[in-house]
Amino acid sequence: MAKIRILGNHDLHLHGRVKISGAKNAVLPAIAASLLTKEPLQLHNIPLVKDVFTILTLMEGLGAEYSLENDSLSIQTRNIRSDEASYEHVRAMRASILVLGPLLARHGKAIVALPGGCAIGSRPIDLHIHGLEKMGAFISLEHGYIHAETNRLKGTEIEFEKKTVGGTENLVMAACLAQGETILRNCSLEPEVVNLCHLLVKMGAKIDGIGEETMQIKGVESLGGATHEIIPDRIEAGTFLVAGALNQGKITLEGVIPEHLTTVIEKLKFSGTEIHRHPHRVDVLRVQGAPEIKPQDVTTSPYPGFPTDMQAQFTVLMTQAEGTSIITETIFDRRFSHVNELLRLGANIEVFQDKAIVKGKTPLSGAEVIASDLRASASLVLAGLIANGETIINDMEHLDRGYEKIEEKLKTLGAHIERLPEEESS
Ligand code: UD1
Repeated sequence: MAKIRILGNHDLHLHGRVKISGAKNAVLPAIAASLLTKEPLQLHNIPLVKDVFTILTLMEGLGAEYSLENDSLSIQTRNIRSDEASYEHVRAMRASILVLGPLLARHGKAIVALPGGCAIGSRPIDLHIHGLEKMGAFISLEHGYIHAETNRLKGTEIEFEKKTVGGTENLVMAACLAQGETILRNCSLEPEVVNLCHLLVKMGAKIDGIGEETMQIKGVESLGGATHEIIPDRIEAGTFLVAGALNQGKITLEGVIPEHLTTVIEKLKFSGTEIHRHPHRVDVLRVQGAPEIKPQDVTTSPYPGFPTDMQAQFTVLMTQAEGTSIITETIFDRRFSHVNELLRLGANIEVFQDKAIVKGKTPLSGAEVIASDLRASASLVLAGLIANGETIINDMEHLDRGYEKIEEKLKTLGAHIERLPEEESS
């Protein structure tokens, strides 16, 4: 199991420049979309994170061929060789479910393992399944697998009961090759969904209402190849904004789309953090932490609301604010696993159902902790940086799923962080 050691310091001021990578949550559906065509897709700004390698292995099993050079990926599935996404893949990465819609739409058959519970609460996929059934797919659940079949999916009207990012992506991809028109209502508005739709349009899909709650998709007989740029990772960017906000850091972020971070920036500014856009470069943000951080209540909600994927990191910032902050998590249940670990570092946080009450300011002191999911691990890294002394974070492979070269990036900003060799990790 991977471990990271951080030598933290109350007086550490992170400073310097950091380049934000492509968005993990945008690249995964884009790679899945390559199943919709025989032609190659060229995808740029690929983050080299573990989830990308997991989906590429899964795609290879399905018949895709790919080459990855630096941050550019060429991927093509001339023939579908298998229609099965195994439990091994889905367990490693829940987003493997994104192959269900495209596989079914192009190949007429898909067998995908049920994700089951995961570390941030139960995450059902009923909305994906109901939507595909409404489009005429026959779906059964056998031995922990979803078996889906169809001669051809048919356009229909589907209203999502609640907003679902993956559900919107799966159904929009499926609808592109369906017969007739599909209307999707209450779609997720996340920039990653929009980025996927732009790719699909380049491939020849007919989609109206991109970036809106209602999308109309006119099915076509086939889709072609395309070249596409993956948007920057707004969660990685948000994590570095919090890193700058802590301990009066001073960081310049390059390669971001500030508009995707509006709510996060707003909350950080209310907390006293200074954030400025570059006068000439639209993709640059500068963050400077305040000497005194003000407490802020935060409620997570679907985009454009405050992202659940930034909740754990923001909680760390609030441990350093003078006063009480209430963090309400509305997207996932049980998404406070980082709290117990933050308590070990000296934070004062109480969890009541969907709320974490954070009382600050508490000086943090280094300790050994366990990372339980991707964003929880990011929050522990942030906490470790400002905790006095040594923090060891166990099970760091979660972090590798979604953050590219995070230790290197933090080191260039002045952090003392290192990965312990595997033999020390047993
Ligand atoms: C995506 C992101 C994840 C982010 C989440 C919410 C990817 C790869 N992952 O996850 O980082 O935290 O959006 O912004 O893009 N739900 C149902 N039934 C369903 C589907 C979802 O009840 O069929 C519920 C979920 O349990 C959850 C909520 O809807 O409570 C939102 O989930 P969803 O938007 O689908 O998240 P993911 O696509 O899995």
